[in-house]
Amino acid sequence: MKLIDSYTPVEIQVETSIPDSAAIVVFTAGENADVFGDGLPPDVHNAIELMAAAKSLSKKSNDIATQATAAKRSRLVIAVGLGDRKKISLQSMREAAAAVAKLARKQEIGQVAFALDAALLLEAHEAAAACATGLCLGYFQFTQFKGDAKTKASGAKKLAALLVVTKSAKQSVAGAVERATILARSQNFARAVAGHPGNVMHPVALEKLVRAAAKECSLGVRVLDEREMTKLGMGGVLAVGMGSPQTPPRMIVLEWKGQASRGKGQAKNQHAPVLLVGKAITFDTGGISIKPREGMQRMVFDKCGAMAVLGSMIALARLNAPQRVIGILSAAENHVSATAYRPGDILTMYNGVTVEVTNTDAEGRLVLADALAWGIETYKPAAVVDLATLTGGVVIALGKEFAGVFANNDNLADDIRSAGEFTGEKMWRLPIGEEVKDMMKSDHADIVNSAGRHAHAIQGAEFLRRFIPEDGRTPWVHLDIAGVADNEKATPLYSPGATGWGVRTLVHWILSR
Ligand code: BES
Ligand code: MN
Ligand code: ZN
Repeated sequence: MKLIDSYTPVEIQVETSIPDSAAIVVFTAGENADVFGDGLPPDVHNAIELMAAAKSLSKKSNDIATQATAAKRSRLVIAVGLGDRKKISLQSMREAAAAVAKLARKQEIGQVAFALDAALLLEAHEAAAACATGLCLGYFQFTQFKGDAKTKASGAKKLAALLVVTKSAKQSVAGAVERATILARSQNFARAVAGHPGNVMHPVALEKLVRAAAKECSLGVRVLDEREMTKLGMGGVLAVGMGSPQTPPRMIVLEWKGQASRGKGQAKNQHAPVLLVGKAITFDTGGISIKPREGMQRMVFDKCGAMAVLGSMIALARLNAPQRVIGILSAAENHVSATAYRPGDILTMYNGVTVEVTNTDAEGRLVLADALAWGIETYKPAAVVDLATLTGGVVIALGKEFAGVFANNDNLADDIRSAGEFTGEKMWRLPIGEEVKDMMKSDHADIVNSAGRHAHAIQGAEFLRRFIPEDGRTPWVHLDIAGVADNEKATPLYSPGATGWGVRTLVHWILSR
């Protein structure tokens, strides 16, 4: 997996004894900064005593103390805080491990060993998996466009991590760690593609990169180009994409056929698939309804919905998931140009619904609507989830911690939310349907694409609902990830830039179906 894994220069192994070399990581927790570390080697134990005497051990989560040991071959002991004992969770493990990864990166520590056998506060395999997740996510930085040719040629510094567990736990831990590592690597790939700027990653460049990644992990690819989309009558994505001076739009379809189809002679997996749809606006200027200049560069991340779909599809393939899954990346650049679509234009969408364009900056729903209507008709999915950096409104409503959830089906909404509870990706449900449906009325077409200042996030979701069959037989969830898809400042898990939000949650949800 050369292309995909190149963005995660981390190797993780599971061992049953503390090695002689490598920096040793121990966890601390609680009011007294208790150390989880029975049976540590004497030099490590002594270093911890020194830190305890100096009161440098942390009571708070993610704070780090270090101390060199006094042994002949001195090594570093890294103590990282998990915080309040009663609140220790998988997310505290992920974040603490990410803090260690960030330290390793900064101080160029190439080898770390986690004393996990002493820290069995949680289920051993889950704790170790959380640790692996945190290490991979925390170590990631998007540096592809930084530095001179020389530093690039030598590649990113690698991190080798050992997770030391008890003998009895080793087997189950190793499997869980491997799965967590695949997931985090897929998520980091999604973050890296998301980080590519608009001049480099336009729709056709995205097609090329996705084809290369899909080949690496045996995903099926089908791409609708502008000619096919014209034939199919996809008026939304075509209108948005036609202003780009770089390339026309693309509908990129990935297919994972599921395990049953892989074994020789086995019947094809006949189950109705899960359909994932992602917004891939490779850059959003707002179009003729142009955005203000402040912060417009962040619209590089307007493809993050599709990046979550891409990362999920890659992970599902590499985990050899039994489920059949289709992923659609609906890609266009929303530009200001002589050929751009206009306010007042009336578009006929794939399903025949006509849309009066009241704001060319409400473009995400147009590219998603065609993908949803076509994807549902073509693949007859058992469940549909779409993800999009759809509205600034959801950031105002829910901030940077919560994605907005909208659904036509309570069970599906609950399943996705509980998957997010496990992975640490938080969501909050907002309403659509009867009460808000009049918002989208148009005088000249069936609906408008934007209806003024009230409840932007709800408008976006309500618009999309018009492209889901009304018979209620297609359970659907829309996730507005505008707040959670990227960060301007570092967070406990992530460096500034795209987060890859959604990859782990979607995969966790699909695998549990
Ligand atoms: N890509 C933006 C939404 C966005 C805003 C994402 C801030 C991330 C951070 C989307 O295409 C957009 O422009 N939405 C408009 C919708 C409005 C015109 C109805 C918005 O939220 O202002
Ligand atoms: Mn926009
Ligand atoms: Zn947008």
